[in-house]
Amino acid sequence: MKPIEAVLVGAGQRGTDAFGNLALKNPDELKFTAVAEPHEGRRKRFAEQHGIPVERQFTSWKEMFAQPLLAPACVNATMDLEHLESATAALEAGYDLFLEKPMATTVEGCREIVRVARKTGRAVMICTPLRFTPFYKKVKEQIDAGAIGRPLAVSMSENVASWHFAHSFVRGNWGVVEKSGPLILTKCCHDMDLVRWLLDVPPVEVNSRGDLLLFRRENMPEGAPKFCIEGCPVAETCAFNAEKLYGGETSEWPVSVISLDKSREARRAVLGTSPFGRCVYRCDNTAVDEQIVVATFANGTLVDFAVRAHTVYPYRTIRVLGSEGELSGHAERGVIKVQRFVAANWSDPESLEFNITNDEAGAHMGGDAGGIKHFTRCLREDNRAELDRGLQIALEGHLLSFAAEAARAENRTVNFASEFNTAL
Ligand SMILES: NC(=O)c1ccc[n+]([C@@H]2O[C@H](COP(=O)([O-])OP(=O)(O)OC[C@H]3O[C@@H](n4cnc5c(N)ncnc54)[C@H](O)[C@@H]3O)[C@@H](O)[C@H]2O)c1
Repeated sequence: MKPIEAVLVGAGQRGTDAFGNLALKNPDELKFTAVAEPHEGRRKRFAEQHGIPVERQFTSWKEMFAQPLLAPACVNATMDLEHLESATAALEAGYDLFLEKPMATTVEGCREIVRVARKTGRAVMICTPLRFTPFYKKVKEQIDAGAIGRPLAVSMSENVASWHFAHSFVRGNWGVVEKSGPLILTKCCHDMDLVRWLLDVPPVEVNSRGDLLLFRRENMPEGAPKFCIEGCPVAETCAFNAEKLYGGETSEWPVSVISLDKSREARRAVLGTSPFGRCVYRCDNTAVDEQIVVATFANGTLVDFAVRAHTVYPYRTIRVLGSEGELSGHAERGVIKVQRFVAANWSDPESLEFNITNDEAGAHMGGDAGGIKHFTRCLREDNRAELDRGLQIALEGHLLSFAAEAARAENRTVNFASEFNTAL
């Protein structure tokens, strides 16, 4: 099979570790032929890994898109605020686009990307990988097959894990809402996209509550310095001590993010200057660490969703209550249980269990690989209608995130249908 050739924009963590690695592992599916990245070390590392000659290495997407088309497709893994401008420029330049979530950080930005895609006739796929995991595909297959009858209520949770939350949403890229977006967008556009996809209809009404409960200045231990290594009095007992989190033996993600040189010495050397070395109670973070969303959908299904920072492990759960039975699943364990009510024998329901192996699947439970496979297959088959259907779902999922944030921030019920018109 001839691979789909693509340019990469943004050779950071996702560009290099997720999509770069997928291309190296699946050379008949995707091949990177050019890279745009301002950080010299990252750019050179990516170019070396993919054998990209110097004349196809650029310091920004602006420079790259000023060239004649370098490949049919573009993978855009820049940071959130960069998406709108770089995505529309890629489409105008003639690229079919695989764009990291969130598609943009404003409602208008999301709509604009869809508008430009349709105007230019280019395909866009947003990287919301849950839809492409074997686990959630099985959940949808069961719902669509009527295994539990008509879905009446859906209950979902996303449990981030406190160490992951502190890394990404306190010290890291997504801590400051103004620099990326609210948590319900930056973390949970996955879940909003997922529920919109599972139910096949848009929401009609949205409520939400949430707050920043722990990572605030008033919870700072007395005498804690700005950086953990500056002699913190609670260094031994604090679960978020940067020296312990980033300066140990392991250099696996998220530790890998703090320096290009992954050696222990190099990682320890930046702990007095890197944002990841900061005391979690003295950062500039504004993202909430707990949020609950309640929404009704156009088919009457009632949905509740909770994102929780303060958990030990990262995992997602789902329960779907139907007119004829119940489905429950634990995504990270790969277990889905479907139970059907049986007349006159309520204590002994018909039961079916699926065990989905996630081990082989790779990052995001196979969603990254599944998403890239879907994108390259649609391009190979010129199935743009399929990609456009997926884009419309992604748009509605993103708008649900914005609606939930408006409901939380303004403490009111949002009428999704009238305030977040999904027609462009
Ligand atoms: N789909 C998922 O599950 C998932 C998971 C994590 C992150 N993300 C998203 O992926 C995106 C990237 O996240 P990341 O953690 O890799 O961030 P990152 O900061 O590691 O990478 C972004 C890269 O873009 C580069 N960049 C900045 N300006 C540029 C320009 N003008 N031209 C080209 N490159 C430019 C930066 O130098 C950086 O290397 C974000 O939007 C994030 O929300 C998605």
